[in-house]
Amino acid sequence: MESQRVAPFGTTVFAEFSRLAAQHGAVNLGQGFPDFDGPDEVKEAAIEAIRAGVNQYAISTGAIALRRAIAAHAKRFYGQLVDPDAQVVVTSGCTEAIFDAVMALVDPGDEVVLFEPFYDSYLASVQMAGGVPRFVELRAPDATHGAWWFDERELAAAFSARTRLVFLNTPHNPTGKVFTVEEIQAIGALARKHGAVLVSDEVYEHLVFGPAKHVRPATLPGLGDLTLTLSSAGKSFSFTGWKIGWALGPAPLVKAVQKAHQWVTFATAAPFQAAIAKALALPDAYFQGFVRDYQAKRDRLSLALKAGGLEPLTCEGTYFLMARTDSHRKPGEDDVGFCRRLVTEAGVAAIPPSVFYSPGHAPSAHGLARFAFCKTDSVLDAAASRLSKGAR
Ligand SMILES: Cc1ncc(COP(=O)(O)O)c(C=O)c1O
Repeated sequence: MESQRVAPFGTTVFAEFSRLAAQHGAVNLGQGFPDFDGPDEVKEAAIEAIRAGVNQYAISTGAIALRRAIAAHAKRFYGQLVDPDAQVVVTSGCTEAIFDAVMALVDPGDEVVLFEPFYDSYLASVQMAGGVPRFVELRAPDATHGAWWFDERELAAAFSARTRLVFLNTPHNPTGKVFTVEEIQAIGALARKHGAVLVSDEVYEHLVFGPAKHVRPATLPGLGDLTLTLSSAGKSFSFTGWKIGWALGPAPLVKAVQKAHQWVTFATAAPFQAAIAKALALPDAYFQGFVRDYQAKRDRLSLALKAGGLEPLTCEGTYFLMARTDSHRKPGEDDVGFCRRLVTEAGVAAIPPSVFYSPGHAPSAHGLARFAFCKTDSVLDAAASRLSKGAR
């Protein structure tokens, strides 16, 4: 009955783990959204916009106040000059920007380079467009690498004459990796050589923990004209349910994305656009406090995982921590089996990271689990107390 396009998609493991978490009264560190709201003044701005009658279709490319705020934010944080009229399109969260970008730039048979593990909607979008994914593995920190890393030869081998896009996600979900200037330059050089577009997903741009620094690929020499930058308000302002995202970049790329956007959602929620325009202009103190609070949460969870006998891996950004589970794994147990046991026996829900790998590479995730720390301290402490009793 269903089309071949959607037939390969099952129900996600996220649904299974949310159900298991509810069933076992578990502390849920699986779900990647905050269990607290963003700033009151931003909520008030949305309520005010509704009261003021900002309730009909926004213009398709996005409300001009928001497009101007997106451009001003790019200039303020990255010195990037963006024309709000020709170089910005507002979408229903970054998820829609990802889908639109793939629809706009990938023809059937075109190849798309994805770092693995990847945010799962990249692969689904590529598959729906009839594109062909080419994977490059990010490898876990080890004795010689302090952070997640990739092999440049493997990256070069993933490119071909058919490469149309390469997805870069920095800071990276689920690993917490922040790509360095050198890494981005290497990726950009290959994109340029093969005439490919670099799609840079930066939804965690304000969640980078020092000494790591967020580098916007579009601002590096030679990359501005081939990079489409995607981001959204969900993570930076703790309003994931509002689904306000955007794409910005060279006018021809943005025009192509807009062509897809006009037939996907046409326009996004008008009052929330008005509120996010205000959020993007919040003073520096907001962004500094935001990352400081999250760094404390990362450290809190990290200690809890260690106390529970798990091994948290380096996390330079995002609100996710990957941990090695080998000390508690049963022989032959994969990551899904381990996470099922963690939720049923220890009462803590995490996500098995094999969902972020192609089926052939899923074994790379077997000794890992992803924990979200976008949770109130009392929830993190409850997880700590359960983890200290151990996953048996
Ligand atoms: C890497 C990455 N990109 C995009 C998204 C989706 O963003 P949005 O909620 O704005 O659609 C997420 C959400 O988890 C994400 O982790």
